[in-house]
Amino acid sequence: MATDFTEEGAADAVIESFAATPDERLRTILGSLVRHLHAAVREVEPSIAEWEQAIEFLTATGQKCTDVRQEFILLSDVLGISMLVETINERGAAGATQSTVLGPFHMTRSPVRALGDTIDLVGESEPCVVTGQVVGTDGAPLAGAVLDVWQANDHGAYDVQEPGKQPAGNGRGLFTTDDQGRFWFRTIVPSYYPIPTDGPVGDLLAATRRHPYRPAHIHFIVSADGYQPLTTHIFVAGTEYIDSDAVFAVKKSLITEFKEVDDPELAARYQVSNPFRLADIQIALAPAS
Ligand code: BEZ
Ligand code: FE
Repeated sequence: MATDFTEEGAADAVIESFAATPDERLRTILGSLVRHLHAAVREVEPSIAEWEQAIEFLTATGQKCTDVRQEFILLSDVLGISMLVETINERGAAGATQSTVLGPFHMTRSPVRALGDTIDLVGESEPCVVTGQVVGTDGAPLAGAVLDVWQANDHGAYDVQEPGKQPAGNGRGLFTTDDQGRFWFRTIVPSYYPIPTDGPVGDLLAATRRHPYRPAHIHFIVSADGYQPLTTHIFVAGTEYIDSDAVFAVKKSLITEFKEVDDPELAARYQVSNPFRLADIQIALAPAS
């Protein structure tokens, strides 16, 4: 005999329909999604017009995606889901530098650069030197670790956002640590910037009176043989929006002083003009499990 659809029984009926799913993890994920989505719908009790609006929003989000634009990831970012997934997945990396979001501006092939090179291909702003050491969580220096670095310029734009205006590869570099796990490179202090707002995610931010800004930061992906790769940022201490990052990606341990240095000898050693800014960081990687 057919069973009647009821508000109370709907979630269980759908979950039951997945009972024969051979992939246990898929069954768990679908069951949880259905339970929580149904609970949200029962709580909110949307009108048909509101439900159609929700479908239109998701459709527009998909339609905004291209090879170089991922509006669904941006949606996950502004809803705090990307950071939640990152944070859940760093639980197994006790003692390691904390992770944060990848973001949409990473290039699969950053330009390979030598230690001490500059990633600032424009050369019009106050110079900055970033130095540091990559170590394991036991403190052992990691020689040959690879750092993939990318950042916005001092107007808050990545090279890929301004083709023709910024040289390709500006603000990017792939560095390998020396035999002490050390690295150093020249750059400029990046600016805070808005995430892309010309799509449905921008509409969502506007409708909820949220600003689109991210505090100033430099991105890193750090990898070394035998260690878990780390995706993280360093945030410029004192930057605007450090307390209200549009994508919730700030962790206090990642906030770094970019000190003002007035030392002609040190400037000469790093081949920058004096005065300059200096950020010194340690990056700890957890052993691969
Ligand atoms: C970024 O830091 O590049 C970024 C992260 C999330 C959304 C948009 C931009
Ligand atoms: Fe960024």
